[in-house]
Amino acid sequence: MTHAVEVEGLVKTYRVRSRRGFFKYSVELIEAVKGISFTVDYGSVVCLLGPNGAGKTTTIKILATLLLPDSGTARVAGYDVVKEAGKVRENIGLMLTVEKGFYGKLTGRENLEYFAALYGIPRREAERRIDYLIKLLELDKLGADRKLYEEFSLGMKARLSLARALLKDAPILLLDEPTLGLDPPSARRIRELVRDIAHKEGKAIIYTTHNMFEAELVCDRILLINKGVIVAEGTVDELKDKIPKLKVINITLKSGRNPAEVIGEYPFKKEVGVEENNTFRVKLYVQKPEEVLGEVLKKLVNSGGEVVDVKIEEPTLEDVFIYFSEGSV
Ligand SMILES: Nc1ncnc2c1ncn2[C@@H]1O[C@H](COP(=O)(O)OP(=O)(O)O)[C@@H](O)[C@H]1O
Ligand SMILES: [Mg+2]
Repeated sequence: MTHAVEVEGLVKTYRVRSRRGFFKYSVELIEAVKGISFTVDYGSVVCLLGPNGAGKTTTIKILATLLLPDSGTARVAGYDVVKEAGKVRENIGLMLTVEKGFYGKLTGRENLEYFAALYGIPRREAERRIDYLIKLLELDKLGADRKLYEEFSLGMKARLSLARALLKDAPILLLDEPTLGLDPPSARRIRELVRDIAHKEGKAIIYTTHNMFEAELVCDRILLINKGVIVAEGTVDELKDKIPKLKVINITLKSGRNPAEVIGEYPFKKEVGVEENNTFRVKLYVQKPEEVLGEVLKKLVNSGGEVVDVKIEEPTLEDVFIYFSEGSV
């Protein structure tokens, strides 16, 4: 069986012109996606998990044929996103974080009817599907099927947006941070539905998020993306197994000096987070904590640090992410 989505060496660079004088412009190149490759199968949810600016939305927009890649290829439902854009669009349901196109003066139901007509869904079938989706997303319970869109809460807007993505009953769904900023019940409902739709209806879903907890809940497989590069991929357990021999020493420390300078020379991977009033959170990724802990603590204390807390833990998904992301020391 072919994959639902196949991405190979995808590259996208934005060219941003900024004025540098009356007649002069400079062009800044922003490499948003730097040659990523991955596949997604039917019946599964795959997360693109990464911080803001990682390249998630850019990737989704290329797959949705809203942006052209500079190089590389992407096939969705077997169709090329550049050469067969129309076919790709027939096979996807899309939900972007910032939704446009809904009409403020129409109700939730009327908006769905409008889009069903736009998608060319026959009237009878459309009504049946809309009834089903209104129930599925509990829009009726919230009164959102009868309320004007301009009076919707963020949660209702997101639910309606997912309903629109599901209107066509397309085999592939592209959902860009679908729960961003939502109230917990709406976020929960969307997460549950996404898993159900993939597992029970056999659809392929790409789900982007910057939230590790959410990725762990929702996704069958996770692609960790950072600065336009997929740095690791696998199930949550596989990802944790990629740093299997490592333990994480978490040290909380009050200090006038940045601990990154004090323990900078050690060869193991470390990450220093700064919290308020001279409090630092230090993470050390080591094989044998007992061999280094004493020495590290002594150094930190000798440099004027006050150790508040020390814990040795198994790596979490967040640790995996930090470990694989360039930019941490
Ligand atoms: N239209 C655009 N023009 C210029 N730069 C952009 C544009 N859209 C995104 N970028 C830049 O591309 C990078 C990736 O952005 P994006 O794909 O939106 O990441 P994410 O969705 O993971 O936050 C960021 O550095 C962002 O500032
Ligand atoms: Mg984004």
